[in-house]
Amino acid sequence: MSLLKTGVLKTPFCQTKKLARNLLETFPQGEMLVEAYRRDQRVRQLRCYLEVGDIYPAEREAILRDFGAVCMNTQLHGAGIFNLEFVAREIIARGVEGVFVECGTWRGGSLGLWARTFMRNGGDVARCPIFGFPRERVTITKGWFQDTLPLKTEAIGKIAVLRLDGDFSESTKFCLEKLYDQVVSGDTVIIDDYGVFPGCQRAVDEFIAARSCRCGSSTSMSPCTFSSSPEGPRINSKLN
Ligand SMILES: C[S@@+](CC[C@H](N)C(=O)[O-])C[C@H]1O[C@@H](n2cnc3c(N)ncnc32)[C@H](O)[C@@H]1O
Repeated sequence: MSLLKTGVLKTPFCQTKKLARNLLETFPQGEMLVEAYRRDQRVRQLRCYLEVGDIYPAEREAILRDFGAVCMNTQLHGAGIFNLEFVAREIIARGVEGVFVECGTWRGGSLGLWARTFMRNGGDVARCPIFGFPRERVTITKGWFQDTLPLKTEAIGKIAVLRLDGDFSESTKFCLEKLYDQVVSGDTVIIDDYGVFPGCQRAVDEFIAARSCRCGSSTSMSPCTFSSSPEGPRINSKLN
């Protein structure tokens, strides 16, 4: 591991690729080591993030374990991960019924993390089925939102948590317009890319203004949460 670290970091980019290729040819387990190293780095980053927060060590370790299991399949970082933790606890505590819907799934890592988080916190999968987990309750739909969502909205029914992670303005706008009215009143919509992609932020701002929703986190935060309830969402993605 240290060989990889020093070798790669001190070598110019063109030689780095060659070094990596040679390493993988002479050392077949190299790929696994590289993956283990990346996984370790991602978990370490999250550990640093969580250590600043007001969280019990045992809870922190549990979050880190769950993240370690999915981290190679998600683009989620600190605030997004913490946000899922808050949302899961909140909807379990309030007994909110409805499904978890994520639009923009990529390799499924954030969906997997949601499922792990929800169940670790004692979520009742039977009462609050998740669009994601366990396997027999999973519904994954491949295709453009514009083609697939219109055929799915009825089957989805009541939504407890709507998480949009489609990056683009059009993707976000379309999903909001198609699914927002199915979100159980007062509960939360999470926009992963708010404050990251200006197009996405604009689409959300326009939607919030048109529907008189309340925004739950500062405008530069990612993720942003908002709600149709007059008090605004009770879930915030900030640590403290
Ligand atoms: C940032 S990735 C999702 C990451 C994932 N939630 C995670 O971190 O585990 C965004 C995904 O949204 C998908 N996407 C964006 N616009 C879409 C659209 N109009 N229809 C279907 N998928 C779309 C992209 O293909 C990509 O897989």
